[in-house]
Amino acid sequence: MARLDPHSHTDLSQPRQRHLSWKAEVDFAGRTVRATASLRFDRGGGPVDLDSRGLQLEQVTEPDGTPLRFELGEPDPILGQRLRITLPPGVNACVIRYRTGPEASALQWLEPEQTAGGKAPFLYSQCQAIHARSVVPLQDTPRLRITYDAELTLPAGLRGLMAAAAVDRVLQGERAVERYRMDEPIPPYLFAFAVGDLASRELGPRSRVWAEPSVVERAAHEFAGVDGMLTSAEALFGPYPWGRFDLLVLPPSFPYGGMENPRLTFLTPTLLTGDRSLVNVVAHELSHSWTGNMVSNASAEDFWLNEGFTVFAERRILEVLEGPDLVALHAAVGRQTLDEAVANFRDRPELTRLRTKLEGVDPDDAFSQVPYEKGYLFLRTLEEAVGGPAFDRFLKRYMDAFRFRSITTEELLELVRAELPGALEAVDAPRWIDGEGVPPGAPVARSSRLEQVEGLKAQLPPPEARDWSPWEWQVYLNHLPRPSPAELMTALDERFHLTEAPNPEVLVAWLTVAIRSGHAPAIQRAEAFLGEVGRMKYLKPLYAALIAGPGTRSLAEACARRYRKRYHVIAAAGVDALLRKGA
Ligand code: BES
Ligand code: ZN
Repeated sequence: MARLDPHSHTDLSQPRQRHLSWKAEVDFAGRTVRATASLRFDRGGGPVDLDSRGLQLEQVTEPDGTPLRFELGEPDPILGQRLRITLPPGVNACVIRYRTGPEASALQWLEPEQTAGGKAPFLYSQCQAIHARSVVPLQDTPRLRITYDAELTLPAGLRGLMAAAAVDRVLQGERAVERYRMDEPIPPYLFAFAVGDLASRELGPRSRVWAEPSVVERAAHEFAGVDGMLTSAEALFGPYPWGRFDLLVLPPSFPYGGMENPRLTFLTPTLLTGDRSLVNVVAHELSHSWTGNMVSNASAEDFWLNEGFTVFAERRILEVLEGPDLVALHAAVGRQTLDEAVANFRDRPELTRLRTKLEGVDPDDAFSQVPYEKGYLFLRTLEEAVGGPAFDRFLKRYMDAFRFRSITTEELLELVRAELPGALEAVDAPRWIDGEGVPPGAPVARSSRLEQVEGLKAQLPPPEARDWSPWEWQVYLNHLPRPSPAELMTALDERFHLTEAPNPEVLVAWLTVAIRSGHAPAIQRAEAFLGEVGRMKYLKPLYAALIAGPGTRSLAEACARRYRKRYHVIAAAGVDALLRKGA
């Protein structure tokens, strides 16, 4: 058998999926989705191996209702279960009736208390990298893109959203039936939906923001600039290929900052700071519309193609909107997080390559800032080698050559060889792609604002630091020694009230150094904050700081026990892994 993706049972010698028709009914009381998935393949006849995880299968038939043979394999902790269906000659479709399992890894079911409104339950999906199989049985590899149509049945008082075009909504007594369609071929990890008490505000001709009613005004204010972002992204990459660009602000347990679901980016409510200082996350998810969603990684082993290109694009957009000084600060913070990620992988340095080998490795465990920031630095290095205009032309060529395709690192390299001859040799690309760590001579961000902050070292910043952006604060705080003197922590807190910082990026950068320095107010604040948000970017460093800090390990254990039901399963697993490792 020809396995092409270490995280899928997909066999390329078998028929390949083309289209999914999904009919699903959301049952909040039973915490299950009852569904039929009709899959159409490029041809009929013979066995087809699908991915599934925890699904309770009821029936598999031909489209005309004739039962089909199927066989469910043994569960594998990473891959889930292989579902082998045998298609008769000439039959190129099957209909699978099933329910999602109680622990479906892509779904988070929230009780009303876990939402802002407190009255209605909430459900959302998060499929990247390999969780789509816990909601729909399919060939769960980004290599085999699908179009789909879907019908969601849900309680009439709630609203469903899918990362697709809305078709209509019809009331049927106590229930509503909503239909959607996705006509562009997507990798399965971009299949996404949410159900809850949701309202929307218009942001521009192509965008609106969705959130719970009590959050939606704040969200509309925060993201008012989205249309300007679309325009600058189009200048870089060409026309926006997905029609609409809508946003959905999720409840606080959403484990990521953002997720680039097509036509409907999912966002954490921690971006709602009131001062638009974290909208770079929107620029990032928007950039994925081209790099990631239109040109996708062929498997998690090429994840840097998605994230490295997207961080590059994000910073280009930021440069237009906020200027080069801010981008330098942003890139400097990125470099700090990269160095930290490389240090954290000292036992598994192979995970610091851009192109990884992930047979037997769960993509959620391999996740780090390396593909983001090392990928960004590699692209910046290439840009410096060939010059800005030539690199911009290359980017457009890349979008064009691989439009709606999923590619490997090798396919990118071939295009660079053809379009920018000599460039790979000039930057010693193999050292970047297959080498470990960060090559010496990687580009370093420079700006006067950055130099001022870096020049402070561990001195108390001047009073004007009250006006620092969150990126200046992060550069400064991440530089401080761990532990730092108690007097410095106290002085910083008195002068700048960092324990009450309204910006979560500043707050977490502060808490991580202050906890390690034994600063009591920070420990208390962390204890509360860990119960308020589920974004992994914040949970992981805070738990790591409590585990490593003086006398706070048992508090980390207590918080994990107390709050774990509030976290997404992926986040809870990440916290568990830290507690195990720190033992
Ligand atoms: N696609 C990622 C989120 C993701 C990665 C989900 C891997 C599941 C598996 C998204 O685009 C992302 O990178 N989000 C960042 C935003 C940041 C880099 C601006 C995040 O969540 O912090
Ligand atoms: Zn991303």
